[in-house]
Amino acid sequence: MYEVLKNMELAPKIRLFEVYAPEMAEKAKPGQFVIVIIDEKGERIPLTLAGYDAENGTITFVFNEVGKTTKQLGILREGDSIWNITGPLGNPSEIRNFGRVLCVAGGVMIAPMLLQVKALREAGNTIVTAIGARIEELLFFEEEVKALSHEFYVATDDGSKSYKGLDFLRQILAKKKFDRCVSMGPVVMMKNVSEITKPFGIPTVVTLTPIMVDGMGMCGVCRVTVGGKMMFGCVDGPEFDGHQVDFDGLIKRQRMFLPEERLSALLWELQGGCECGRKQA
Ligand SMILES: Cc1cc2nc3c(=O)[nH]c(=O)nc-3n(C[C@H](O)[C@H](O)[C@H](O)COP(=O)(O)OP(=O)(O)OC[C@H]3O[C@@H](n4cnc5c(N)ncnc54)[C@H](O)[C@@H]3O)c2cc1C
Ligand code: FES
Repeated sequence: MYEVLKNMELAPKIRLFEVYAPEMAEKAKPGQFVIVIIDEKGERIPLTLAGYDAENGTITFVFNEVGKTTKQLGILREGDSIWNITGPLGNPSEIRNFGRVLCVAGGVMIAPMLLQVKALREAGNTIVTAIGARIEELLFFEEEVKALSHEFYVATDDGSKSYKGLDFLRQILAKKKFDRCVSMGPVVMMKNVSEITKPFGIPTVVTLTPIMVDGMGMCGVCRVTVGGKMMFGCVDGPEFDGHQVDFDGLIKRQRMFLPEERLSALLWELQGGCECGRKQA
């Protein structure tokens, strides 16, 4: 059992959890993820580490309440326990002095990007960061990311804050030489970022989030195609060369169980979960 020490709302439907998990906190590295199972009958959901503190024995993750399990997780209170957490899983990010690095994060993945930005900065890189969300209301950690960046940009899909969309990145890339780009966020956004950096010849690393079950290379559910080869998101990734990824195939696979997922969330809400669950808890 893993005690929830902090449950904090960062933006509507986006929550930060700090959990007591000393053995994971000791081994964790930026770029890795954990698999969370809320209770004995719960499904396994992968969440990227957004922080870890070996001294206090804690790990942090930030999640979007999108479906049944993430909504159920969101109503846990501080002091409640999570039945099982497995990790850290996946390969850590490559952290070294590359030179000038463009870091582009969207939505909930701004949280793990902050961890990555911190590590890349400590390794001596010049950091140019762009964070984005659908609308201004969903932005968080702006000040924290800005404080670690040499240059900082914000974008929203609807233009409600700063730049509209990511096209402005082309102007930034045209002005200076970049040695690397790392991108985390919705698949469509990472596809867009990879298309923008490709003509500039900037090595681009994206964090893929295919549907996973065991997270250890055994079930094959997390198959992704990279450079024409089949890879497993969990053990070969989660980071891959963005210029080689078949993003359209990934998007298709991610939507495979949409009707079942919607039904599962609906049934759970009808049984008193969701907001009612939060009030009753
Ligand atoms: C390596 C990895 C890291 C991730 N990190 C984060 C994170 O830090 N924060 C965050 O909010 N989300 C993260 N995700 C996505 C997160 O796992 C899904 O949002 C979650 O599983 C949805 O479960 P649900 O029951 O609430 O919603 P559902 O309604 O079941 O699913 C909503 C959508 O989430 C995706 N999804 C569903 N089940 C899984 C699964 N078992 N594995 C992966 N994706 C699934 C599908 O695209 C689905 O359409 C990550 C996924 C992967 C693979
Ligand atoms: S999640 Fe099972 S092989 Fe990757």
